[in-house]
Amino acid sequence: MTKVLIADKISDVAAQAFAERGIEADVRPGLAPEALAEAIDGYEGLAVRSATRVTADLLERATRLRVVGRAGTGVDNVDVHAATARGIVVMNTPHGNSVTAAEHTIAMMCAMARRIPQADRSTRAGAWERGRFMGIELRDKTLGVVGCGTIGAIVATLAQGLKMRVITYDPYLAPDRAASLGVTLVTLDELLAESDMITVHVPLTEETRGLIDGDALAKTKPGVRFVNCARGGLIVEADLKSAIESGHVAGAALDVFEEEPARDNPLFAHDEVIATPHLGASTLEAQESVALQIAQQMGEFLLTGMVVNAVNAPSIAPEEMAKLGPYLTLAEQIGSFAGQIAEGRIRGVTITFEGQASALDSRPLSAAALQGLLAPRLDNINMVNAPLVARERGIEVREIRSATAADYQTVMRVDVQSGDRVQGVAGTLIGGGGLRIVEIEGIKIEAELGPHMIYFTNEDRPGLIGSVATILGEAGINIATFSLGRRAPGGDAVGLIGIDSPVPDEVAARLRARAAVITLQRLSF
Ligand code: NAD
Ligand code: MLT
Repeated sequence: MTKVLIADKISDVAAQAFAERGIEADVRPGLAPEALAEAIDGYEGLAVRSATRVTADLLERATRLRVVGRAGTGVDNVDVHAATARGIVVMNTPHGNSVTAAEHTIAMMCAMARRIPQADRSTRAGAWERGRFMGIELRDKTLGVVGCGTIGAIVATLAQGLKMRVITYDPYLAPDRAASLGVTLVTLDELLAESDMITVHVPLTEETRGLIDGDALAKTKPGVRFVNCARGGLIVEADLKSAIESGHVAGAALDVFEEEPARDNPLFAHDEVIATPHLGASTLEAQESVALQIAQQMGEFLLTGMVVNAVNAPSIAPEEMAKLGPYLTLAEQIGSFAGQIAEGRIRGVTITFEGQASALDSRPLSAAALQGLLAPRLDNINMVNAPLVARERGIEVREIRSATAADYQTVMRVDVQSGDRVQGVAGTLIGGGGLRIVEIEGIKIEAELGPHMIYFTNEDRPGLIGSVATILGEAGINIATFSLGRRAPGGDAVGLIGIDSPVPDEVAARLRARAAVITLQRLSF
């Protein structure tokens, strides 16, 4: 039975959703790293929130693991590179908690503007300090949104409801999208200089770590306030502390910290700072939504191979799967064919999509073709790690699309460059999803593939076919299919024979010894 480990505290709906799919889910939140490392090898799936650190060392121990599911957005607690290298899919739930996180941002902004946490503390302590907690209005203030993706965009929309002017810095945001959100796209320096309140909504990456540092803070307006409900590390805490102490920054509302759990953070000493313990996604609605979604996604992947919301593999939406499924098989099989016949080190591969195939999402298809190509040569290759492995081995991958295909409505071809040769295989799908090889090394043919095949190149001479069939018959090997192609009568020719059982070495040697045979290889699919 397929088994998954739920290693963080996530809603019970996840375990139920796994059970409904016949997947056994062990719920063991809070395991110490060593205990987790001990346990992990028993599982094909690992579901986490943000507490569990999915490190390269942990993944090394996880020999059966196929998928890591993050019930939430940020995957910075997962070593995605190490997972990719091991062929493990990492998926998240990018939209399940976005509204909740955006609402928390607005709540933090309002709380900071009106000093609600400080006033709450004072009032409940019996001090009735009406004069002490003077606030500011948000209306007509400028809100600078750094990163206007899923959450940033919702924050921008909600803030406009509060009649704030919203400007954004996001180098990847299309101007049309900014316009449709009613926000002004500016540079980071402009945002820093113009904003009364700045909220960050970018992922934590090498590029964004320390984005708001001392230099950036120096460019802001005196009295600026900051909100961080994205990730600790985006704002340099030591620099923020200095800016608060100098009185330049009037307040900071922080849900996330450089080090979590944040128990002893120096910023907590400042009354201008309000803090929540990474609660951005903590509503019943969001937690049920991400737990259910991650269990559904992981379950579908483990049971059917369908990939949704993967951060390290091309996603295939359920509605696309029906169309892409047969093409994935085609891509993988012609890749495998090309990989088995290619001689020497592979230096480059060109994957061509012709006719109907040219309209498809090429990323999963190329990944499947590379998987097929590399699998005969390397262990543990799958669609997730094949593009990375190809890159690491210096294999140059090119894609070509052509809206037309010469003889068929749809064709995919894989041309492999190894040594000083290019060897190519092309295939098509016929009615009902059947797969046909339609070209090998530039010679047209029409052949089915089976588990055991013999591929040979030969001189087009009388008598060869009969003698090949005789040798196989004498060895008790039943022929299932027999397909031939030639460049011209009497010229170069190829043959592909489907057989019901593998060909022993000694039979292969007898076949190779036929005078007209140039090369002969045993292939398996
Ligand atoms: P998203 O990927 O939808 O949006 C991120 C945006 O940042 C994108 O538009 C991208 O173009 C932009 N961006 C990337 N690099 C940038 C850069 N250098 N400068 C400016 N913009 C840049 O992500 P999202 O779902 O909106 O999540 C945003 C953040 O919120 C993430 O860090 C996520 O981990 C965090 N998050 C936190 C909580 C919480 O509990 N506090 C909950 C959910 C998400
Ligand atoms: C996220 O990235 O989704 C947040 O960190 C929310 C969480 O899971 O706590």
